[in-house]
Amino acid sequence: MSEQLRFDGRVAIVTGAGGGLGRIYALLFASRGAKVVVNDLGGSRDGSGNSSRAADQVVEEIRRAGGTAVANYDSVEDAEKVVQTAVKNFGRVDILINNAGILRDRSFIKLTDDDWDLVMRVHLRGSYKMTKACWSLFREQKFGRILMTASGSGLYGNYGQSNYSSAKMALVALSNTIAKEGEKYNIFSNVIAPIAASRLTENVFPPEIFAAMKPDFIAPLVALVCHENSEENGHIFELGAGQFYKVRYERSEGVLFKADASFLPGAIAAQWNKITDFSNPQYPSSIAETDWVTLADTAKTLTSNPAGPDMRFDGQVA
Ligand code: NAI
Repeated sequence: MSEQLRFDGRVAIVTGAGGGLGRIYALLFASRGAKVVVNDLGGSRDGSGNSSRAADQVVEEIRRAGGTAVANYDSVEDAEKVVQTAVKNFGRVDILINNAGILRDRSFIKLTDDDWDLVMRVHLRGSYKMTKACWSLFREQKFGRILMTASGSGLYGNYGQSNYSSAKMALVALSNTIAKEGEKYNIFSNVIAPIAASRLTENVFPPEIFAAMKPDFIAPLVALVCHENSEENGHIFELGAGQFYKVRYERSEGVLFKADASFLPGAIAAQWNKITDFSNPQYPSSIAETDWVTLADTAKTLTSNPAGPDMRFDGQVA
């Protein structure tokens, strides 16, 4: 049998761990030796209400199985209190799983400012506040593992989820940046876009599919990328129903234009096929990978751009 991935001596905070995916993460970390803060506000799917029951039940479950856990009932927006629970009870934090989430799905035409703000606050501001509250501890101890929970809805867009998808994609951006800032302190941040049966998805899939999409299929990857031996940093994983993918950006080879008087919309239109041709793709993972200074210099040496069909906007208002 292969050696078990262990988290002895580590302290993990799992937000929104009173049910769904978070509960399974908390159980897994605890079963592998981590001390776990089970955070959950205990509200409803749309973010209303609160209760200590959800977190208490999971703590009970962990303790019954011989693990160590403590409950916290604060909203992720009150992140300092969540982190204080970890520090007070266990003396440190090593792993932060930003998982808490709600839904306020509406088509864009019906979306209210409240729907936008609440979803942004729980997902984006909550994950930001939690990460910020852990950051100096992670830096001091030169160790930290952060997981952000995005969604396919954020990566690709999804009908009725303009608020949710925006928050989720913003978490990819947050992770990408802190992954770069944290690297030299051994603080790694990664993103998952999971798909699993939970109360958030219970009316999305047919019952037989729903039953097969266990949150248990998400947790092993979460544990793996949050382990001290993992070298994954700044990456995105899409997973569910037993299927695992890594996601990255792809861009076309591109076209360099001379920025002179011939650089008109028509010149771009003339090269459109080449600009949008992905047969020789690039996979950038940093702004620094593109040498803009050299490109600007090279552009000067080009001859004028070939003229293409020009375009007019008469009658339109911009
Ligand atoms: P869930 O509703 O079962 O779990 C979310 C938990 O977060 C709940 O227990 C809830 O009480 C808690 N929570 C909500 N607001 C909170 C707050 N302000 N502070 C603390 N806790 C709070 O849903 P599920 O599916 O387990 O979702 C977990 C995460 O995965 C969410 O971020 C969700 O957006 C994301 N996700 C889930 C997918 C799925 O297929 N289930 C798909 C894509 C993303």
